Amino acid sequence: MYVCVCKAVSDTKIRRLVKDGATTLRELSRETGLGTCCGKCVPQARETLSQSLAAQ
Ligand code: FES
Repeated sequence: MYVCVCKAVSDTKIRRLVKDGATTLRELSRETGLGTCCGKCVPQARETLSQSLAAQ
């Protein structure tokens, strides 16, 4: 499922980045461009990020 439609970033992609060491939204954004267009995905991205971090 796409979290960020503008930059085509899926929840799977976010989980993979967290697995590879990302811990902040800023890092995800730097890697993928997530949240840099319309910004509507930011709350969902934040949620997916914290779930991924908690699941580690
Ligand atoms: Fe992520 Fe638009 S949906 S920036």
